[in-house]
Amino acid sequence: MKKITKAKRLRGEILTPGDKSVSIRALLMGALARGTTSITGLGTGEDVQSAALCLKGLGILFNWKSPADVDVTGKGLFNFTPPQQELDARNSGTSFRLLSGILAGQNFTSIITGDESLCSRPMRRIVEPLRKMGSQITGPQDGGFPPLTIHGNPLKGITYVSPVASAQVKSSILLAGLHAEGKTMVTEPAISRDHTERMLRYFGVPVTQEGTSVTITGKHNFDAQPIHVPGDISSAAFFIIAALLVPDSKVTIRNIGINESRTGIIDVVNQMGGNIELTNQRFLNEEPVADLTITTAELHGVTLEGEIIPRIIDEMPILSVAATQAKGETIIRNAEELRVKESDRIKSIVENLRAMGAEVYEKNDGMIIPGPQKLTGADINGYNDHRIIMAFTIAGLIAEGTTVIDNEEWADISFPGFFNLLEKLQE
Ligand code: S3P
Repeated sequence: MKKITKAKRLRGEILTPGDKSVSIRALLMGALARGTTSITGLGTGEDVQSAALCLKGLGILFNWKSPADVDVTGKGLFNFTPPQQELDARNSGTSFRLLSGILAGQNFTSIITGDESLCSRPMRRIVEPLRKMGSQITGPQDGGFPPLTIHGNPLKGITYVSPVASAQVKSSILLAGLHAEGKTMVTEPAISRDHTERMLRYFGVPVTQEGTSVTITGKHNFDAQPIHVPGDISSAAFFIIAALLVPDSKVTIRNIGINESRTGIIDVVNQMGGNIELTNQRFLNEEPVADLTITTAELHGVTLEGEIIPRIIDEMPILSVAATQAKGETIIRNAEELRVKESDRIKSIVENLRAMGAEVYEKNDGMIIPGPQKLTGADINGYNDHRIIMAFTIAGLIAEGTTVIDNEEWADISFPGFFNLLEKLQE
């Protein structure tokens, strides 16, 4: 249990763990490459470990040099070892969905499962296209939910229009497409994060993009490449908002990935009247990186809808906290995907903001948050959801009284060391 009280100010420089999305892809690509891929700056969160554990179950060898540095010895596209037991992606939707795409093209049957939260998250979105490509998949409610039994088969490329803007769906299909005969094209309603495409290209796989469509040419073997993972902007987001809201603060966060498909948080903060200074811009592999400096600012409300939503989807919990402090209304629309994350995040945000005394109106696809409003310390229901736990810890820094966070260890899913960094910035 953590007790959070009002912070006087936040000052200092920090690093966040490696980007979760890039880290999981780095492990998968390392496993699919021929030879040994050295990865540095790997995310240290449990979701990344879940990906590694699943790959271990498929015969991939890891040589850990530190928790963030590992050599992965790949087996090429079609040589994974049939698993002796169920592969457990635990809480990691990215590990589950991306790996399912790879398993669909192997010449064996595997079962992939997850924890209670993951087993209630929708899988039809990947099962339908993977079946179209030739894989046979069974699971609860006709493959609607984990665990899935995936009978790998020779796959054929498809043209698929996804009903959701989801990088996990897109990547699952692209990774199946990597194992398929011919070309595979995925079209999304809006552009989602493109780390898979960038990394495939970095490894030399032909991938092209036109508008919201991505095309991959299948059966392209590739060799190992070194990968440096940038810091996670979705983890940095908690400190970005904390520094904006806590008076007299100035925080620098070094080495953060600023891939455009992820930087919605920077755009929104600028739109709200805050300022994030980007310095030392450079590239790590195919990914742009910068140092971010944030100072306290007065914010005003914004409307968040349409194409920006996939670019801020993981930042919604912390942006909702920021909205309570902004002058005027913040309106969030078209964000129904929040209902199928690690928790129903619309419900968990609304419930906890209300517990802290805030006025907030719940909608099917978002919420309306008037501001500025006083927050009062409360017992937070974190729903064992890492981003809800961290967002409401930051809310506790600006609330009157004490905020109590139970099961705070769930922050380790994406951000081990979160609470230590927060203490460090308050010294
Ligand atoms: C992710 C994609 C997003 C995001 C998740 C990570 C990824 O999920 O919310 O945290 O690494 O591809 P969806 O694809 O379900 O939108």
